[in-house]
Amino acid sequence: MGEEQLEVLFEETRLFQPPEEFRAQANVQSAGVYEEAAADSAGFWARQAERLTWFEPWSKVLEWNPPFAQWFVGGKLNAAYNCLDRHLDGWRRNKAAIVFEGEKGDSRVLTYQDLHREVSQFANVLKSLGVQKGDRVTIYLPMIPEAAIAMLACARIGAPHSVVFGGFSAEALRDRIDDAQAKVVITSDGSFRRGSVVPLKANADNALKQVQCVEHVVVVKRTGIDVEMQDGRDVWYHEAMENASANCPAEPMDAEDMLYILYTSGTTGKPKGVVHTTGGYMVGVTATHQMIFDIKEEDVYWCTADVGWVTGHSYIVYGPLANGATVLMYEGTPDYPNKDRFWQIVEKYRVTILYTAPTAIRTFMKWGTKYPESRDLSSLRLLGTVGEPINPEAWMWYYKNIGLERCPIVDTWWQTETGMVMMTPLPGITALKPGSATVPFPGVNVEVVDKDGQPVPKGSGGYLVIREPWPAMLRTVYGDPDRYVSTYWSRWQGIYFTGDGAKWDEDGYFWVMGRVDDVINVSGHRIGTAEVESALVDHPAVAEAACIGKTHEVKGQAVAAFVTLKEGVDVQAGFVDELKGHVAKKIGALARPDDIFFTAELPKTRSGKIMRRLLRDIAEGRALGDTTTLADAGVVNQLKEKYADEG
Ligand code: PRX
Repeated sequence: MGEEQLEVLFEETRLFQPPEEFRAQANVQSAGVYEEAAADSAGFWARQAERLTWFEPWSKVLEWNPPFAQWFVGGKLNAAYNCLDRHLDGWRRNKAAIVFEGEKGDSRVLTYQDLHREVSQFANVLKSLGVQKGDRVTIYLPMIPEAAIAMLACARIGAPHSVVFGGFSAEALRDRIDDAQAKVVITSDGSFRRGSVVPLKANADNALKQVQCVEHVVVVKRTGIDVEMQDGRDVWYHEAMENASANCPAEPMDAEDMLYILYTSGTTGKPKGVVHTTGGYMVGVTATHQMIFDIKEEDVYWCTADVGWVTGHSYIVYGPLANGATVLMYEGTPDYPNKDRFWQIVEKYRVTILYTAPTAIRTFMKWGTKYPESRDLSSLRLLGTVGEPINPEAWMWYYKNIGLERCPIVDTWWQTETGMVMMTPLPGITALKPGSATVPFPGVNVEVVDKDGQPVPKGSGGYLVIREPWPAMLRTVYGDPDRYVSTYWSRWQGIYFTGDGAKWDEDGYFWVMGRVDDVINVSGHRIGTAEVESALVDHPAVAEAACIGKTHEVKGQAVAAFVTLKEGVDVQAGFVDELKGHVAKKIGALARPDDIFFTAELPKTRSGKIMRRLLRDIAEGRALGDTTTLADAGVVNQLKEKYADEG
């Protein structure tokens, strides 16, 4: 969506009250929690902080020097200790922490005690490889327990991790390793993908050809494919673990010590390293996870995200494990070996809470109800979504066919930067509206403002902003505090700009419409237009490129690219595929454009700025918006005709 399209009409919506049965057992049953937090948010967060075990107490809840925040000042804690050690005193030590389902149907259960042992051993392995407190470690792994083990081992010794999604290319990995100046990379020989193998180690080797900082590579054997092991640099995980001691005390970390860096796309070609610290982040994810997912000891909680994204960090690893939950982790895709794979897993493990993305739900809708109908989904009691706006039709389908009209749906709005869910229903008390992420979490202050930063009245739309600091907020952009200030805090002084457009309705419910900046949300994954453009321009035949997000039935948005070629380039058959492949090679398959259109010129303002909103209008087949600033009006007319022919 473009900045110009904030005006979207509200549909008549039906309210869904939490079912009585659910309400009566919910972790949060009193709406008083909202008022209580609104009256004293610092007090509210201080009470939430009591969920954690601190080595030393904090002296002040919040130190706010806009836009730099410190939470739980002076407090000392360790994230891995909170996720593991403190559960070992009582019966929880024998509780399943991670229930792993492999793509091939292989299964593995790690109790809290098992996980504690493996994490401690691996922390010692990292130490033996020279990793010290403060050193960065890049993790490039499939969805296997070792991904969580590696993250927690880093946290245990105070080495910030940077997890890079396994679908990213060697070049994307290289940039992220280099930006973080990682000392160690943890990868696997390969990862399973619909029965074939993606060569992760070979990608890592390619990435490492051009960086100097990495001293060692730890390789988990997952697929058994042949890999080259570089003498002195590379070590096998299983060999290193054989003799590693299981005794590794958790390092006391300052509340503001860095827990991790996570790269995300922004409006320039260079991904931003979002920095999260320890205390506030752990408080935020633990409290939200417990209250939003209504987590109980006996739940089997399944978040289908990949650990490579923030959802995996906050709601597969840190939040759930700090709450002592049983987390299901699935390695594969929803359609392998069959399209009922998710429902087979729900049935097999009696999953009670399912947290997934709208894009997956729309895919299931397309496949039809016969797949979920063929499985026993009666164990489910709560559903969640995240990553992009959910259309009411998909919400209703999920509610009916997966939740069997019994389960509340928590539509959770948040970002890599926010670290924790910011808007969501609390499932025992908040009435639901299909398509709305409902209201801010207690203690969170979200608003819709106009272009001057003034709050808009109920019933209208504008920019989604966050008014006050929150505990899990990003602290900076790694190595680039100026970018932190300019990206998030400069549009309006002292207000955090989310990059999203939203409306709020007469009931004060929020409706997030999508990005208003140059970020495309493909299947819930953020891709910067500038990143795809620079990948295209990197191809020798391309002179200039402009990318936009185009509405897509399943993915939410798809990348469409408008490309001008260099003089004399002759477009041969297969060239479009070559260009698409080039983008996938540079960034990863998730950024592959769906459509590429060639044009002699791109529409620009007189000062030379590409007018993407006109490209969006063309791609969506809409009437063109204001064209008065266009340098050459002929360009868009030609493009429009061409697009109508080819599109
Ligand atoms: O546009 C919003 C959309 O995803 C963006 C954040 O993307 P990312 O940092 O990759 O994190 C995704 C997982 C937290 C937001 O700016 N978004 C996320 N959740 C929702 C959403 N849009 C509408 N409704 C949501 N529930």
